[in-house]
Amino acid sequence: MKNLLLLFSLLLIVGCAGDTKKPKSPKKEIKSATIDLTLSGEELFAKHCKLCHGIKGNLELNGAKDLKESVMTLDERIVIITNGKNAMTPFKKLLSEEEIKKVAIYSQSFAKKK
Ligand code: HEC
Repeated sequence: MKNLLLLFSLLLIVGCAGDTKKPKSPKKEIKSATIDLTLSGEELFAKHCKLCHGIKGNLELNGAKDLKESVMTLDERIVIITNGKNAMTPFKKLLSEEEIKKVAIYSQSFAKKK
């Protein structure tokens, strides 16, 4: 009887010990996920410029210049995108300086490769 009790309590101890050894589900490390909400030059172009310049830059709608033929420097592009010109909309209220620069750089990609 005494042995049985001993065995029982032993089992209990082992059982409990086993329980504590169980690895607690490790807290998942949540790395702060930063979602990039900024658009690329290409996305900005598709959103704001395609309307007149076309997705390939050469639609020439509303008198828009063919961007494949454009010889403007980056700075000149930034100025025209910021302030607009004739039928071209100024984008200073629609886009940030950063976005204007990105889309200006992208607009250079239409230029014919020399
Ligand atoms: C409402 C139509 C319209 C939209 C939208 C538009 N453009 Fe234009 N764009 C024009 C017109 C028209 C011109 C020609 C202006 C002129 O010289 O009379 C032009 C000229 C340009 C030029 C100068 C090309 C050159 O060599 O003379 C660049 C660069 C340009 N656009 C880039 C862009 C970019 C980038 C966007 C988008 C952020 C954009 N445009 C959106 C109509 C538009």
